[in-house]
Amino acid sequence: MKRPEFCIGIDVGTSSLKALAVDCNGSVVATASVEYEFDSPHAGWAETHPDVWWRAACVALRNLTSSDAVRAGDILSVGLAGQMHGLVLVDSDNRPIRPALMWNDQRTAEVCDRAERELTADEIWRRTGNRILPGFTAPKLLWLKEHEPETMRRAKRMMLPKDFIRLQLTGKIHTDMADASGTLLLDCENRQWSLPMCDALSIDFNLLPELFESTVPSSRVHAAGAAATGLPVGTIVVAGAGDQAAQAVGTGIITEGPVACTVGTSGVIFATTNQWRPTPRGVLHSFCHAIPNRWHLMGVTLSAGGSLRWWRDSMCADLVASARELGVDPYELMLSEARNAPMGCEGVTFLPYLSGERTPHADPHARGSFLGMSTRSTRAHLTRAVVEGVTCSLREVLVLIRQTGARTDRIRLSGGGARSPFWRQLLTDAFDLPTATVDQLDGAAYGAALIAGVGANLWANIESATAHIRESNSTSVSCDADQFQMIARRYADAYAALAPWFADQSKHRRLK
Ligand code: XUL
Repeated sequence: MKRPEFCIGIDVGTSSLKALAVDCNGSVVATASVEYEFDSPHAGWAETHPDVWWRAACVALRNLTSSDAVRAGDILSVGLAGQMHGLVLVDSDNRPIRPALMWNDQRTAEVCDRAERELTADEIWRRTGNRILPGFTAPKLLWLKEHEPETMRRAKRMMLPKDFIRLQLTGKIHTDMADASGTLLLDCENRQWSLPMCDALSIDFNLLPELFESTVPSSRVHAAGAAATGLPVGTIVVAGAGDQAAQAVGTGIITEGPVACTVGTSGVIFATTNQWRPTPRGVLHSFCHAIPNRWHLMGVTLSAGGSLRWWRDSMCADLVASARELGVDPYELMLSEARNAPMGCEGVTFLPYLSGERTPHADPHARGSFLGMSTRSTRAHLTRAVVEGVTCSLREVLVLIRQTGARTDRIRLSGGGARSPFWRQLLTDAFDLPTATVDQLDGAAYGAALIAGVGANLWANIESATAHIRESNSTSVSCDADQFQMIARRYADAYAALAPWFADQSKHRRLK
């Protein structure tokens, strides 16, 4: 009898690392996850030491390779996915020089403003199809040059978060097109590093990792990687993908038409395009997909699930304790309380800009805000306002995608937010489009495993690797959709009114 064969997918997330093993039918046979915190040394900064990710990967992979469901010897390949835009710098011994600066770190706002003035926003857009935004990798390099010249003097190579796991497993410094897109140093149209962009920003081209398409089996696990994780020496490691492109593969968003909405720490709307289609002024990200000759449009709400997590940790300790006693997820109790508040929260609006915002407002100075409270407002109103605010932000991104003329036939929901029927209905009404989920809600690790399967010839291509993905939890637009459009208008007006105040406050913060 033929021995079973497995592929492993790993997702280096913002607050946890997930790993899973998939068999040749695309079924998940084992999962492992390890949580960690990221550091915020100053408001708006976000850092994690890459060793934290590697330790988590070792624990998760050891769990998988020692589980009854997976024989280590039957593992064909590993696919890596991870949070995009993070900057890992290593020295000549390949050791991290400092903690990684993460995607939600906003310290580079001034650097970006200056680059848009001096290089001109138009020139940056022509070279990359995108805007220079504080979360992206290139401005992080510029900030370090200015504020930590010694770090940059010692830096021999840079890489993205998931690529540090590859370095530990295989000794190679490689990356993929989708993740590389988020550095702002990739010529996304031609799928190669942009030398003119590196030159214009005075960034040393030699720092950059070697580039591959996602399914390419670009390296193999070496002896030290095997000893640390239990993976066999020689296991294929494919290039992998940034988490959003991997998530799209894991939820079957590989052609034009269906659009992905992922509510994780960040919230993302993602539409595949068959052609390179940058948007005017880079209002949406135009990045490479994990499939050759395909790209995608994407907009990001920086604090989506992250807003609800913040609200849970700061205001819902009693519900967290009850959830522990009942053995349920605290978010279940929070959202069932929120359902008791009426739609529109009797006038309360929440702006989820806890880490500034990316899309549609590229505004690092925006801050989280509750507006419109009265003596009638309870915690239920405020919790519901958090969920409605995040939903409004995602709706604004979808509107921008529609305005490009891209097809938006229906929405596939994934991420933690898609677990809640209450939130799924709100999203469906806000988008005014039918939605559905797929079985794998944590799709980035799953997508990475499918990409790994293609790299090891378990499937011929991404189309056949994703052919088994089926929709479930279909949700239709309800009669509340009209009312949601009014809530969305109130939300948009709130940001418009506050934007000058946010800008003003940021000047005061700088002066302090
Ligand atoms: C995408 C983005 C986030 C991170 C973290 O542009 O910034 O989604 O990838 O998940």
